[in-house]
Amino acid sequence: MITQHFSTLVAGLLVAAAIPGQALAQNDTGKAVYDKVCVACHSAGIAGAPKFGDAKDWAARIKAGMDTLYESAIKGKAPAMPAKGGATDVSDADIKAAVDYMVAAAKNGGSSAAAPAPAAAPAAAAPEAAPKPRPAALSFNRLLKPASKRNPPPPEDGIHDPDNDGSYALQPPLSVFEGLPRSNAGNRINWVKALDSNQIAPRWDRTDPTAAPVVMDLNIVREVKGSMPDVVYPHKQHTAWLDCSNCHPQIFIPQKGANQISMAAILLGQKCGVCHGKVAFPVSECRICHSKKKDVMPVKNANAQ
Ligand code: HEC
Ligand code: HEC
Ligand code: HEC
Ligand code: HEC
Repeated sequence: MITQHFSTLVAGLLVAAAIPGQALAQNDTGKAVYDKVCVACHSAGIAGAPKFGDAKDWAARIKAGMDTLYESAIKGKAPAMPAKGGATDVSDADIKAAVDYMVAAAKNGGSSAAAPAPAAAPAAAAPEAAPKPRPAALSFNRLLKPASKRNPPPPEDGIHDPDNDGSYALQPPLSVFEGLPRSNAGNRINWVKALDSNQIAPRWDRTDPTAAPVVMDLNIVREVKGSMPDVVYPHKQHTAWLDCSNCHPQIFIPQKGANQISMAAILLGQKCGVCHGKVAFPVSECRICHSKKKDVMPVKNANAQ
C-alpha cells in the first residue's frame, strides 16, 4: 500500500511536467494550460484520452463541434476526463484556449506534433486487433547514476507496468527535479521543503483530484539512552504525504512509548526503516531524526521543550 501510494506520487510528479510540444499557431495561453495540465493525459493518450496532434483520435470529436468540446473540457466527460483536467482554478476562457490549441494541433495532422512519433499503425486489415502504437519510451536512471549506467527504459525495467501508457510518458529525474530544493542524501531532493514551498503538489488521491490529506501536527519525542540527541518523530511532515493507515496499526501502535524501536530494527528495514532508506531520506542522515538536544544541565523552566 505504501509503495503504491508512493509510485502514484512520483509518477504524478514526473508526468506533470510538460513534454514540450512544437509551437503551433499563436495561442500562448492555450499552450501554457495544455503544457501544465492537459499534457499529463493527452500526450500519451492515458485512459483513452485523445492524443495530442493525432488527427485520427480527434476527427469524430471535432465533428461534434467546438461547443461540445468546450463543455467536455470545462465540465468533464465520464469516465476519465476530469472537469478542467483537474485544475479547477483555471478560468473557463483559458480552458477554451487549451481546447483550441489541442484542436489546432489535431487538424495539423500530427505531423508537427510533440515528442517521438508513434510507430506507424499497420494499415487496414484488422485494425482493432493491432497493438496500440506507442511513442518510444525515454531511457533514464532513477538513481541519477552516470549515463553509462542507465536503467533500461521504464517499460523494460521490471518496475513499471509496460501495459500502462504512463510508463511511456515518464521523464528523466534530472530534468524534472531541476529547481527543486536540494538535500545531501537519497535522491538529493528535500521533499519536505519542496512540498512546504508549494513547488510540488502531488495528488493525494489518484482518482479524486480534489481530495486533500488530513495533516496532523503532533510530535512524539523518543528519548535515546547515551549521547545521541533524542528523536523527534513529526506527524505533520508524514501525514502531508501518508495516510494514518500507512503506519497504524501495522507498523506502529498509535500510543506514545508503546512501540519498541531501535536503530538495529530500523537498519533491518523495520519500524522507521520501512520507509527511511527506501522511499524517504536514508538512515545516514542521523541528525534529521536525532534532532532534540538533551538537557545537559538541570533547567529552571521545567516546561521548556
Ligand atoms: C486525467 C486525465 C486527463 C486530463 C488531465 C485532461 N484530460 Fe481531456 N480527456 C481525458 C479523457 C480520458 C478523455 C476522453 C473522454 C471520453 O470521451 O471518454 C478526454 C477528452 C477530452 C476532450 C474531448 C471531449 C469530447 O467531448 O470528445 C477535450 C476537448 C479535452 N479532453 C480537453 C482537455 C483539456 C483542455 C485539458 C486540460 C485543461 C484536459 N483535457 C486534461 C483525460 C484527461
Ligand atoms: C509515518 C508513520 C505514521 C503515520 C503516517 C501516522 N503516525 Fe501516528 N504515530 C507514529 C509513531 C512512530 C508514533 C509514536 C509511537 C510510539 O511512541 O511508540 C505515533 C503515535 C500516534 C498516537 C499516540 C499519541 C500519544 O501521545 O500517545 C496517535 C493518537 C496517532 N499516532 C495518530 C495518528 C493519526 C490520526 C494519523 C493520521 C492522521 C497518524 N497517527 C499517522 C507514526 C505514524
Ligand atoms: C510509511 C513511511 C514512513 C515511516 C514508517 C516513517 N517515515 Fe519519516 N518520512 C517519510 C516520508 C515520506 C518523509 C518525507 C520525505 C523525506 O523527507 O524523505 C519523511 C520525513 C521524515 C522526517 C523529516 C521531517 C523534516 O522536517 O524534514 C523525519 C524527522 C522523519 N521522517 C522521522 C521518522 C521517524 C523517527 C520514524 C520512525 C519513528 C519515521 N520517520 C517513520 C516516511 C516514513
Ligand atoms: C529515520 C530516523 C532515524 C535516523 C535517520 C537515525 N535514527 Fe537512530 N534512532 C531512531 C529511533 C526512532 C530510535 C529509537 C529511540 C527509542 O529508543 O525510542 C533511535 C535510536 C538510536 C540509538 C539508541 C540505541 C538504539 O540502537 O536504539 C542510537 C545510538 C542511534 N539511534 C544512533 C543513530 C545514528 C548514529 C544515526 C546515523 C547514522 C541514526 N541513529 C539515524 C531514529 C533514527
